Amino acid sequence: MNIGLLGCGVVGGGIMDFCTERTDLHVTKVLVRRERPELGERAVTDIGAITGDDDIGIVIEVMGGLHPAYEYICQALRSGKHVVTANKAVISAFYPELTRLAAENGVALRCTAAVGGGIPWLTNLERCKRLDAICEIGGIMNGTTNFIMDAMHAAPVSFPAILKQAQELGYAEADPSADIDGDDVRRKLTISANVAFDALIREEDIPMFGIRTVTDGDIRTFQKHGFVCKLLATAKAAEGGVCAYIEPTLVDGHELEAAVPKNFNLITYCGEKIGRHSFFGQGAGRYPTAFNAVEDCLDILAGKSGFYTDVMQPTAVRNGDEAHPYYVRTACPDEFLRSITVERWAEGVVTACVSVEEMLRWSREQLKKDPACFVAGIR
Ligand code: HSE
Repeated sequence: MNIGLLGCGVVGGGIMDFCTERTDLHVTKVLVRRERPELGERAVTDIGAITGDDDIGIVIEVMGGLHPAYEYICQALRSGKHVVTANKAVISAFYPELTRLAAENGVALRCTAAVGGGIPWLTNLERCKRLDAICEIGGIMNGTTNFIMDAMHAAPVSFPAILKQAQELGYAEADPSADIDGDDVRRKLTISANVAFDALIREEDIPMFGIRTVTDGDIRTFQKHGFVCKLLATAKAAEGGVCAYIEPTLVDGHELEAAVPKNFNLITYCGEKIGRHSFFGQGAGRYPTAFNAVEDCLDILAGKSGFYTDVMQPTAVRNGDEAHPYYVRTACPDEFLRSITVERWAEGVVTACVSVEEMLRWSREQLKKDPACFVAGIR
């Protein structure tokens, strides 16, 4: 099968390496923005040279960003090409448009590398749900924030210093706010929850609180009480919709999530009968991401078509019935916080069980009054 590759950076180079070792996948054209003499005649600068090439069966998009990636993917699907992408932003933002376009044109749209990098997460989620009902999904879906939290637990280090290190190591997104404020996880959770629950949740409906304001003092306090803090994504089947949110979470030091080191991910689904399956691995990087993109191509070669689900119900995010205690550190406590406080922990307080909907709404407002405020759910 011939492949047209859109983008040839770090991940694109990894895809070329995998394909070079095979006889069944050939990268015959590569869309580039600047001259790449090493690609010879394979380099093209016009998307039409790929979508109009009848010998190309699969288009792999690894350019990143929303535009022109979205337009190029649409053009490829309309031209009857199967599409493989590692671009979570474009799949999350245009989920209904792209999945429908793939179905209408009778081609495959696969994005396994978009959620969990090299972890075979979406493919196993798809396999699980054909036999069992999924009750819950989530976990550690961002390597940069896990790297930061892991380092902050290991030794006293300031948040800005360790973020700089994550950027130098190439873990963080170009704009690291996408990692530390939760947007990157939210895109991955939107795609995963839509697949898991045959839903059509909008990315912007999922509330989140990031790790930007966590301090060394907070981490020492958590450790003193036997907890480890991780940025966790959660989505569950709920009455009248899907419960979905992203927040720093204090997990017991003995839980699997607490032991996830460096920039690794740990993503979990729970099936009604099968129980918990957790997937651990590298959520980003040249070969992990290229691995899943090429695996998607092999699945297409083996006859896989469509998306991971062909059912989509517009679905509301409902976090009103999900409740647990929270740790809150703020210089401006208000009546609401005082009314739910049950314990003092150093500079912060621990609350009674509060609904996730109420607490994440309050936290968003509180950040406007106290930009240094930090909030974490307690599991
Ligand atoms: N910046 C992301 C992470 C890359 O750290 O996990 C993969 O989405």
